[in-house]
Amino acid sequence: LLSVRFGRTRRDGEPPLINGWIPFLGKAMEFGKNAHGFLAAHKEKHGDVFTVLIAGKYMTFIMNPLLYPYVIKHQKQLDFHEFSDQVAPLTFGYPPVRSGKFPGMAEHIQRSFRLLQGDNLNNLTESMMGNLMFVFRQDYLTGESEWRTESVYQLCNSIMFEATFLTLFGKPAHTSRHSGMVTLREDFVKFDTMFPLLIARIPISLLGGTKAIRDKLINYFHPQRMSPWSNTSGFIKERAALFEQYDSMGDVDKAAHHFAILWASVGNTVPATFWAMYYLVTHPEALAVVREEIHGVLQVSGIETDHNRDIAFTREQLDSLLYLESSINESLRLSSASMNIRVAQEDFSLRLEGERSIGVRKGDIVSLYPQSMHMDPGIYKNPEIYKFDRYIENGKEKTDFYKDGQKLKYYRMSFGSGSTKCPGRHFAVNEIKQFLSLLLLYFDVEVLEGQEPCTLDPSRAGLGILLPASDVQIRYRLR
Ligand code: HEM
Repeated sequence: LLSVRFGRTRRDGEPPLINGWIPFLGKAMEFGKNAHGFLAAHKEKHGDVFTVLIAGKYMTFIMNPLLYPYVIKHQKQLDFHEFSDQVAPLTFGYPPVRSGKFPGMAEHIQRSFRLLQGDNLNNLTESMMGNLMFVFRQDYLTGESEWRTESVYQLCNSIMFEATFLTLFGKPAHTSRHSGMVTLREDFVKFDTMFPLLIARIPISLLGGTKAIRDKLINYFHPQRMSPWSNTSGFIKERAALFEQYDSMGDVDKAAHHFAILWASVGNTVPATFWAMYYLVTHPEALAVVREEIHGVLQVSGIETDHNRDIAFTREQLDSLLYLESSINESLRLSSASMNIRVAQEDFSLRLEGERSIGVRKGDIVSLYPQSMHMDPGIYKNPEIYKFDRYIENGKEKTDFYKDGQKLKYYRMSFGSGSTKCPGRHFAVNEIKQFLSLLLLYFDVEVLEGQEPCTLDPSRAGLGILLPASDVQIRYRLR
């Protein structure tokens, strides 16, 4: 039997090392097929910290969520930008931001994220409300009140994509809708299918027509095209003005940055909206409670609902929708599979709890895989079951979750952690709330019988919200 092991050997003080049998690729194939199962099996065998060679990188996984704080709190040897700084430009097609060519730009970009949060969220939320209402009215709040059929992904994608686009980038000069939105969405899906390969740094030239599709998508945001758009968010306006300050930045580079934001803003939000809607419509008892809650908020404000009238929720009203929020967070728990990555800047000893520490080498990746926490029966009883009120206790948001009798600082991490936490997370949850509120107020929705339950498509494991492996048909009619 010819069995030669490749890869490095473990040093004293380092975690157990799993090299795999194929040089370079290491365990990449197995990982790609079923990351969650792969990590669970290794945890069973090697304990809560181990290093695996995946696609040429040594990745140390910290599997015990009680240890997460030791990685998330700023460790000067662990850099959180290095990975995304290399991968994002290759994926979206703009020149590296920190190359020295654009002094100060990286810091300005970071600062622009404040425009998605805090008080700035009020304007965004208000604008999103108007745009959602508009798209619903144009495409769905029409005709008689007979039953119509539709698939859930299709519905979420067409409404959320366009309404988010209008909210962030604004509307064209003389009309309310951008022409070519359907084509843009279809091209986006084609690009998105290749997204995992681009993130894995497969050169785009090897991916068939992907380069041409990406060029087309980027071109949509050419500064000359964008300049007549109005109602553009402060966030995009500030970024566009920033890019103008750099002569070394070409128009196509600017456009590619805007395209990256389009991806960030809908790439995860659309599948997250799908799962939130899917679980509600397949759990009528949850749907009834959530719908009742939404009606209650409007009644308190003395607002009548009929489908000739536009509805707008204030941010306070959205914040008070606890059951809706819990149901969204529960669907995020069940569908998110993002990986948190930090790169070691030198050989060092990563301190964990008590006296424990592990050796990490320069260039190694230290990684958290929150899906394993989300599906841990020691934290969440019957983790595979959708329990819409899991995050509510005594009429308030439940925030205490335990592992081995100890309270967890981190128990839900769909939006990343620490310095790489998603700046759009509040906007995202608000827009999903707005979408579902309008849907449930205006329509009766039922799943058509005889369909298999939706399962997760693992191909995006590590990168965010997983897509469903198949779509599901519903029927809906005006209430
Ligand atoms: C980053 C998740 C919606 C903007 C991230 C990251 C995650 C994430 C996990 C961190 C990636 C890393 O570790 O490097 C999600 C999910 C969403 C969502 C699950 C929806 C349910 C949004 C929306 C926006 C947005 C609506 C709006 C513009 C961003 C940006 C970054 C980011 C700009 C990069 C931040 C940086 O470079 O530091 N998102 N996101 N996201 N997200 Fe989101």
